Amino acid sequence: MRIVEEAAAAAAEQVVTPWEVSAPEGGIDYDKLVDRFGCQRLDAALVDRISRVTLRPPHRFLRRGIFFAHRDLNKILDIYEAGEKFYLYTGRGPSSEALHLGHLIPFMFTKYLQDAFKVPLIIQLTDDEKFLWKNLSIPECKRLARENAKDIIACGFDIERTFIFSDFSYIGGPFYENMLEVSNRVTFNNLKGNFGLSPEDHIGKISFPPVQAVPSFTSSFPHLFPGKDQLSCLIPCAIDQDPYFRMTRDVAPKIGFQKPSLIESRFFLALQGEGTKMSASDPNSAIYVTDSCKQIKAKVDKYAFSGGQDSIELHRELGANIDVDVPIKYLNFFLEDDDELEHIKKIHFPCWKLKQIMHYETLSYPL
Ligand code: TRP
Repeated sequence: MRIVEEAAAAAAEQVVTPWEVSAPEGGIDYDKLVDRFGCQRLDAALVDRISRVTLRPPHRFLRRGIFFAHRDLNKILDIYEAGEKFYLYTGRGPSSEALHLGHLIPFMFTKYLQDAFKVPLIIQLTDDEKFLWKNLSIPECKRLARENAKDIIACGFDIERTFIFSDFSYIGGPFYENMLEVSNRVTFNNLKGNFGLSPEDHIGKISFPPVQAVPSFTSSFPHLFPGKDQLSCLIPCAIDQDPYFRMTRDVAPKIGFQKPSLIESRFFLALQGEGTKMSASDPNSAIYVTDSCKQIKAKVDKYAFSGGQDSIELHRELGANIDVDVPIKYLNFFLEDDDELEHIKKIHFPCWKLKQIMHYETLSYPL
C-alpha cells in the first residue's frame, strides 16, 4: 500500500492530493482541509471586496461558497486597485475525451474573472501529467489535449488575451530553465508528504511538479510578457491542486519571483453523492459536455443520489432531504437565480429542475 492509503486507512482520514480525493462517510471536511493546507477562508468581507473592486455582483460560485479558500487574494485586489495588472493561470490534465461538469467549474469561474478584471490568461494542458499517471500512450494524451482544448475554448475566453498550450508541444527554453530552477530547490522529502508520493513511485511522478509550478512565473512565457518577469499571478483551481502551489510559493522568493495567489474551489460531486468526486474514469459518475439531453436525463434518473422520500405522499409531506440530494447540489452550482434555488429547495423536486436546465446542450447553458 502507498503511504497515503495506509495513513488514510489507519485514521479513517480524508486524503486530498492532486491525484487522489477520498473521504470517510459524510464527505470532505473542507474546514479541516483549509487548516491542514494552511490556506485562508474566503469570507463574506472578501467576497464583498471583489464585488466592489470589479463593480459587479459576485459570481454565484462566490455567493454560495463554492470558491471558498484562497492564498493572498487581497494582494491581487490591492494590485488591481492600484491600477496595475496581473494575470490568470489555470489548467487541465486531459484524461478523458470530453470535459464533464466538474471540469467546467474552474473554467467558468476563470471566464468570469477574465471578464471582470480584463487580464491575460494562461491555460496549461498537462498532457505529460496524464501520460505519467494514466495508462495512456503519448499520442493518445496529445489527442485528448486537443479534444479538451475545444471544450475549454467553448467557455468563451477573450481570444486576444488567452494563451492555451500543451506541455508536450511547448516546454523548452525559458520555461524549462524555470523548471530546473524550481527542481533545484525541492527535495524528495518536501514532496512526498504533500503529494502522497512514495519511494516506489516512478521518477516521472517525482519530477513532474515543477512543470505545473512554472506557468506561475511570467518569465516562462517571454513572447507573451516581454520584459515583464514580475507580473503577479492569480490561479483559480480546485483545492486538490493546492500542493503544487504550496511548493511554488515556497520556492518563488528563493528564485527571485513573486508568489502566485490562489482562489480555490470545492469539488463537484459525482452523481452518486457525498464522499465522491465526479470522475472521468467512471462515466456513470459524470455528466459530460458532449452528453445528449437524453443521456443526461437517463443518468440523472438512474444514478443521481436522491434525497427523495420512499413514496410520493411522504415526499409531498416531508420534502426531499436536501442535505444529501444530488440534483439540488448541482443546481447550487448551475442555477443563477438565488430566489428560484430557495424556492426549489422548498418545493422539493430538484431533480425536475435539473433535467430542465440541462435540456439544452450543456455548454449552451449561460455561463
Ligand atoms: N493538474 C491539473 C489536472 O490534472 C491540471 C493543471 C495544470 C492545473 N496547471 C493547473 C489546474 C493550474 C489548475 C491550475 O487537471
